[in-house]
Amino acid sequence: MADDAIEVLLEEGRTFPPPDEFKQSGNLNDPGVWEKADKDPEGFWAEQAQQLDWFKPWDKVLEWDCPWAKWFIGGKLNVSYNCLDRHVKTARKNKAAIIWEGEPGDERVLTYRDVWREVNKFANVLKGLGVQKGDRVALYLGMVPELLIAMHACNRIGAVHSVVFGGFSAESLSDRINDASAKVLVTGDGGYRRGTIIPLKKNADEAVESSPSIEHVVVVRRVGSESDATMKEGRDHWWHELMADAPLWCEPEQMDSEDMLFSLYTSGTTGKPKGIVHTTAGYLLGVYLANKWVFDMKEDDVFWCAADIGWVTGHTHIVYGPMANGVTQVMYEGSPDWPDKDRLWRMVEKYGVTIFHTAPTAIRTFMRWGTEFPAAHDLSSLRLLGSVGEPINPEAWMWYHEHIGHQNCPIMDTWWQTETGHPLITPFPGITTLKPASATKPFPGVEADIVDEQGNSVPLGGGGYLVLKRPWPAMLRTVFNDPDRYVETYWSRFPGMYFAGDGAKRDKDGYFWLLGRVDDVMNVSGHRISTMEVESALVDHQAVAEAAVIGKQHEVKGQGICAFVSLITGVDNTPELVDELRAHVAKKIGAIARPDELYYAAELPKTRSGKIMRRLLRDIADGKALGDTTTLADPTVVAKLKEQYEDE
Ligand code: WTA
Repeated sequence: MADDAIEVLLEEGRTFPPPDEFKQSGNLNDPGVWEKADKDPEGFWAEQAQQLDWFKPWDKVLEWDCPWAKWFIGGKLNVSYNCLDRHVKTARKNKAAIIWEGEPGDERVLTYRDVWREVNKFANVLKGLGVQKGDRVALYLGMVPELLIAMHACNRIGAVHSVVFGGFSAESLSDRINDASAKVLVTGDGGYRRGTIIPLKKNADEAVESSPSIEHVVVVRRVGSESDATMKEGRDHWWHELMADAPLWCEPEQMDSEDMLFSLYTSGTTGKPKGIVHTTAGYLLGVYLANKWVFDMKEDDVFWCAADIGWVTGHTHIVYGPMANGVTQVMYEGSPDWPDKDRLWRMVEKYGVTIFHTAPTAIRTFMRWGTEFPAAHDLSSLRLLGSVGEPINPEAWMWYHEHIGHQNCPIMDTWWQTETGHPLITPFPGITTLKPASATKPFPGVEADIVDEQGNSVPLGGGGYLVLKRPWPAMLRTVFNDPDRYVETYWSRFPGMYFAGDGAKRDKDGYFWLLGRVDDVMNVSGHRISTMEVESALVDHQAVAEAAVIGKQHEVKGQGICAFVSLITGVDNTPELVDELRAHVAKKIGAIARPDELYYAAELPKTRSGKIMRRLLRDIADGKALGDTTTLADPTVVAKLKEQYEDE
C-alpha cells in the first residue's frame, strides 16, 4: 500500500462503539478476559478447552520448544463427535444444520441428525475403501453438502483431509495429491458455476493420471446427465451407490490432541504450495471459540459465511467452527450474480440470515453493481457482519455498514491466515469500538506485535512487520513433509517470533491496521498466489524465455496480477500470444491465477548478480518515478520498459 494511503487510513476518525444489545448479551462481554489471559495464557486456554467434549482429559496444557508446540498433551477427543454427536444427543437433533441452495435453485435442508447419519455412513465407506487412521484423503468438489460430510467423515476415522479448491486445475490438484500421497480422491461429476458446468471429474481424471497414490475415486453425482464424466471400472465409484449399503454407525476414533486433523495447501514465496498442518484439539478449540465470540453465535442464529470450503475460511467458518457451536448455516453452491446480482440478498431475506460473512473483494464488487440490488430485499434479519481475507478499505467498510447492515450491524474485520487457524486480530461485537478498516486488536491470549527490521518492537503510531510472540492452540504445527520449511518460513526472520508476512501499523490507541503482504505473495480477490507460481507457469510455455510477476493495486480484486515476459528469440510478440499466455497460466494453476495484464519486455531489469528487480517493475506498474537503479546490470533496460509501459 502506498504511504499516502496509509496516512489516510490512520487519520480515519470515525468510531463505532458496541451497540447496547451486544454489550449486554454478547457471548463475550467481559473486558477483563484480556488481562486474565495475559497473566496466565495456559490457564486461560485450559479453562476454555473445558467447553469441548473430551474422551479423556489432557495431562499437560502446553509443551513449547520454539517453534514446536504441543497443546493439551495426553487428551483424547474426536472432532466430528464435537460437531455432531454432542448436538444429536440434545434438542438440537432435528435442528437445521445446513440450509443448502444449489445455483440452479434446488434446495436441501440437512438437520444435525441428517449430517451425523451421512457422516457416519461415509466414514464407513472410507474404511471400506481401505482408508485408515493417518491416511490422506483428497477432496475436490464444489460447494455441495457432500464436501462437508466427507471432511467430517475423515476426521471421524482419523484420516487427514486435504481439500483442493474446485477452481484449481488438474495439474494443481495432482501436485497437491502427490505431496500428500493421498489414497482416495472424492470429487463430483461436475459443479454449477455461473450457469456453466465445472468439469470436476474430467480434471480429476487428468490429475489422477499423474498421481499414482490414488487407489479409489469417489464421485458425487451433482450435474447428472449434463456431465461428460466417465467412470473407470474398479477405480471409480458413485458416492450414492457406496452410501446405499453403508452401515449407519461408525465409532468415532479416539484421537490424540496432537493427531493431525487436516492439511490445506497455501502459497508461499516459492513456486511450490505448502501443506499447512493443523491438529485436532488446538484447532477445534480455536475455531469453536472464535465463532462463538467473534460471530456471537446463539441458538437462534442463521449464519452464512459466503466463502468456499476450498479455502481456510470455509474450513473454520463453515465446516468446523459453526458446527462445533451447533448453529444453523446457509450454504450456497454458485455465483453471487446468478441468475442476477441480488442472489445473496434474496437468500438473506428468504432464510432470515442473522450473521453474514464475506470478503472485501466481494463487497467492492457489490458496490460496483449498485445499491439497488440489496435495496430490493428485506435485510432486517441481519445483526452482525464479517469481513476476511484482505485489508478492507474504509469506503467498502462504510458501504457494507450502510447498505447491508443498515447501520445496525457491527462489522467484524478479522485478520488471520491459513496458518493461524482462526482470527487472531479481530473485534468482538460486545466489547470493541470499531474503526472502519482496522482489524482492531488481538484475540485474548494472543500476543501480537509490530517490529522493525531488527525485530525490535515499534512504539504505538509506528509501522513494521506483524509478528506473534506466543504460541496459541490453533497454530499450524508444521508444513506437511517439510519441517525445515516451517522453521525457515515462519520462525527464522525474527528468532522466537512467528513472522506472518504482513506489514502493519498501530495507532495511538493500539489498534492494528493491516497493510498487505511484505513478501512475494499476492492477494488476489482474497486468494493467496505467489509471484513465483505464476512465473513458473509462464516460463513453462514454449514461447517464454523469462517472466517476472508482480501484484498491482486493483480496484475490486485488491491486487491484480501483472506479468512481464521476455520471449524466446524468433517468437513474435503478438496480441494473440498475450491471450494464449494468460490462458496457459489459467490452465496450469486455475482461473484465479490468470494475469490481468501481460507485457512484453525485450529484457527484464536485473541486478548484476542476476536477480530480477521486482521492485522496479512495481514502480513501473504503479506509474511511479523509478527508485534507485544503480545496482542494475543495465539501467537502460528498465528505462526502456517504463517508456514502453506508458505507451500501452
Ligand atoms: C490477508 C485467509 C488484512 C493477509 C483467512 C494474510 C488480511 C493473508 C485480513 C492470509 C484482514 C486476511 N485484513 N489482511 N482482515 N485477513 N488477510 O491464508 O495478508 O488465505 O497474511 O487466510 O490474507 O490469507 P489466507
